[in-house]
Amino acid sequence: MCGIVGYIGHRDAFPIIIKGLQRLEYRGYDSAGIALFDGTSINLAKTKGKVEDLKNKAKNISQEGKIGIGHTRWATHGIPNDVNSHPHYSNSGDLVIIHNGIIENYESIKKELIKRGYTFTSDTDTEVLVNLIEEVKKTEDVKLGQAVQIALNQVVGAYAIAVFDRNKPDEIVVAKLGSPLAIGIGENEFFIASDASPFIEFTNNAVYLEDEEMAIVRLGKEIKLRKIKNDAVAYPRIMELQMNLEEIEKGGYDHFMLKEIYEQPRAIKDTYRGRLLAEQGLIRMAGIDQNLEKFMNANRIIIVACGTSWHAGLVAEYIFEDLARIPVEVEYASEFRYRNPVITDKDVLIAISQSGETADTLAAIKLAKEKGAFVFGVCNVVGSSIARESHAGAYTHAGPEIGVASTKAFTTQITVLTLLALKLAKEKGTFSQTQFHEFLTELETIPSKVEKALESNPLIEIISDVYKESTNCLYLGRGYNFPVALEGALKLKEISYIHAEGYPAAEMKHGPIALIDDQMPVFVIATKKGHYEKVVSNIQEIKSRKGKIIAIVTEGDEQVTELADHVIEVPETLESLTPLLTTIPLQLLSYHIAVMRGCNVDQPRNLAKSVTVE
Ligand code: G6P
Repeated sequence: MCGIVGYIGHRDAFPIIIKGLQRLEYRGYDSAGIALFDGTSINLAKTKGKVEDLKNKAKNISQEGKIGIGHTRWATHGIPNDVNSHPHYSNSGDLVIIHNGIIENYESIKKELIKRGYTFTSDTDTEVLVNLIEEVKKTEDVKLGQAVQIALNQVVGAYAIAVFDRNKPDEIVVAKLGSPLAIGIGENEFFIASDASPFIEFTNNAVYLEDEEMAIVRLGKEIKLRKIKNDAVAYPRIMELQMNLEEIEKGGYDHFMLKEIYEQPRAIKDTYRGRLLAEQGLIRMAGIDQNLEKFMNANRIIIVACGTSWHAGLVAEYIFEDLARIPVEVEYASEFRYRNPVITDKDVLIAISQSGETADTLAAIKLAKEKGAFVFGVCNVVGSSIARESHAGAYTHAGPEIGVASTKAFTTQITVLTLLALKLAKEKGTFSQTQFHEFLTELETIPSKVEKALESNPLIEIISDVYKESTNCLYLGRGYNFPVALEGALKLKEISYIHAEGYPAAEMKHGPIALIDDQMPVFVIATKKGHYEKVVSNIQEIKSRKGKIIAIVTEGDEQVTELADHVIEVPETLESLTPLLTTIPLQLLSYHIAVMRGCNVDQPRNLAKSVTVE
């Protein structure tokens, strides 16, 4: 949460930072700010609201300067207003800071600084940190880099920071613990950012700081990394980035979310390409091939994740148990990490995360590792913290997902987890070679079937118009499609602010049925394979209470089509692959309803995409 951007080099910093902040707005958009150094003084503009608002506000300051820092905020400490926006000055006005994270012990530090005469204008933990750095710099008579290091050793919490000192205008000091920070290395210029998107058109070379590392980014010098704790030198690992500019732009779509929904056929294909070798009857995944024993000898698999990734984990539970006959538990990472779980070295923990930065998921991994479990990461962002913290893993190849509501990350996570389950099923002999082959062949047809499912978009738009004013919605599914119901409800509530609940269809009679009247739309996943007759009975129960039924059915369906108010067809596939298709209309429904209600679908209120606070 929160995005940070910095630049030092030979170009004008202002446009680079503004554009960079816009690309990082998925990380939070409560407020935005920028500080530029014009050679003599620091010029700072900040405001509640989005980067667009900042652009207006910044008309009042000089936009000169080849060095600067900027921030887009997801509020933790202090309400989102102008004063609490970053960057923050130190009391002398010499230092200016941007920060992504939380300083947990800021109150005690603040009290101490107040005793020493410091004053504070904001309610933020960040203003405390910049003044602590200033105090250390003064009392210990050290340079900025050392002051940052000493100060960070006194704080508890998480941070990615960039600090600038107007008395040392050829450098920016950066540090990281728990929140991501990348340094883009260009020709005599450096970029600092929470991810590589702000600098991808300038350079493909980047260094990702590890936790507890800091760097002084100085013009004309190579990047030097140091360990914050003991000052040991660390060697920068320069990565060559694969991302391209096209991937992070809207490409003619009105919203990133819609673009990402439509990218799913390609994203799913990219995710299995080179791994699924149907003709050879093989699945090749280095992260599993090299650690097959761990999976084969596992007593159980524990899946940890948050949000949409947790729903992908629930789908995976069905797949693993059904195909590979391995017991699986799926946990919210935030619950798992705090409930003293029983974990042994016979457990395999799979952590699922689009961003690879979710604080709770990362903490769950660390806990499982301490207790001896083998950790396998399923991440989308290459080089992310979770990817690095895991013993092994498999990337989803969804490409950058920018819309805050996750779409293509979900289907590609299910794709990777299906490959993993299939591979284990084959190795364990729970699947015959013929079944295995049939499965692989069917999986290869999924991208074209997703394309087919997307063709219902015009119909879905019409249905969305009917239900756009609803205040409550119910989503029902059974078996493999129960997690899809949960995901459908999450999509709707997060972007359209309509209250929605997902339930296993049979559980409806244990409570939710009381809510059903002629005003209640009920979205039911009723595909042919997967307890069809049972779901038909559930639909009858809704109908006799006058609920409105919108059913996702298999092409050619007759029974449900007769009962439902609206049906949306998806192509037929194997039961365990249906989530990859049934989720598509639900994504589109949420999208259209949100657009019709005038909501900002890419940046829904109060949310952020990369949740680096617990
Ligand atoms: C946030 C996002 C969700 C996402 C969840 C987990 O809540 O808004 O879309 O599913 O975090 O994120 P992760 O990056 O770990 O998958």
